[in-house]
Amino acid sequence: MNPIVWDAARYDRQPLPHERWGQGVIDRAQLRAGESLIDAGCGTGRDAELAFNQLMVLAADTCVTPGQVTLLDIDESMLAAARLRFLHYPESVAPCIKAADLSQDWPVSEPADVIMSVAAFHWIQDHGSVFRQAATNGTKQSRLHVDCGGAGNIANIVQAARKAGLLMPVWNFATVDNTVKALIANGWIPQDVWLQADPLVLPDEDSFREFVSTVMFHSASESQINSFVSYCPDFVIDYVRLNIDAIRS
Ligand SMILES: C[S@@+](CC[C@H](N)C(=O)[O-])C[C@H]1O[C@@H](n2cnc3c(N)ncnc32)[C@H](O)[C@@H]1O
Repeated sequence: MNPIVWDAARYDRQPLPHERWGQGVIDRAQLRAGESLIDAGCGTGRDAELAFNQLMVLAADTCVTPGQVTLLDIDESMLAAARLRFLHYPESVAPCIKAADLSQDWPVSEPADVIMSVAAFHWIQDHGSVFRQAATNGTKQSRLHVDCGGAGNIANIVQAARKAGLLMPVWNFATVDNTVKALIANGWIPQDVWLQADPLVLPDEDSFREFVSTVMFHSASESQINSFVSYCPDFVIDYVRLNIDAIRS
């Protein structure tokens, strides 16, 4: 069951640094003609569409048949937005968009060459189970490229939320050490795993309030958000990203 309910349209209206993180993940993947890809925790399909278009151009340039692109997410609103995004693509090449809890069996018919994920894994407690599923659903030479919240992520936001008594999602902001161990235990050879501070400065209180309500504290009431904001010294989201590049062992 998904305890968090997202509002996809409102999410996509935010000044999302996720766009930059997604581009970084796709750049690191260095996609090749004919490769198949899974976007795990795809949200509205923004990054999957970028990757899909890259794969289409590579296929056209090389006359190699494009591989299957699969989008997985647990949230119905996100999945509906992703389906809408790909509505105008021909059915013969369009991606496969499926509901899935990433910590359970993935509904994927063929192993993928590349598994990517942006800003999703920290919503899942057991990273081992996700890495295991990624390995199970990847080819023997598959590559894993991930961005998610890492150790120290949004520490100031969490502190203010605690002071305000806000009900918080149970995030898993993993360390590099624990991530490396979990990758190795679940079929991956880490190539590079690192943390990177990437603070987001929002221009004013309204945009700060709108951002945290949409991206972090989905079920908080207006008065709870008011209390939370009163404990925030500035309008900065102190993001720390955990980046993962790995290949199959
Ligand atoms: C912050 S959004 C990121 C979405 C998208 N990748 C992006 O960068 O915009 C986190 C996404 O992870 C998904 N998610 C969280 N837990 C999940 C789980 N257990 N299984 C599948 N998806 C999950 C949410 O539904 C949501 O779409």
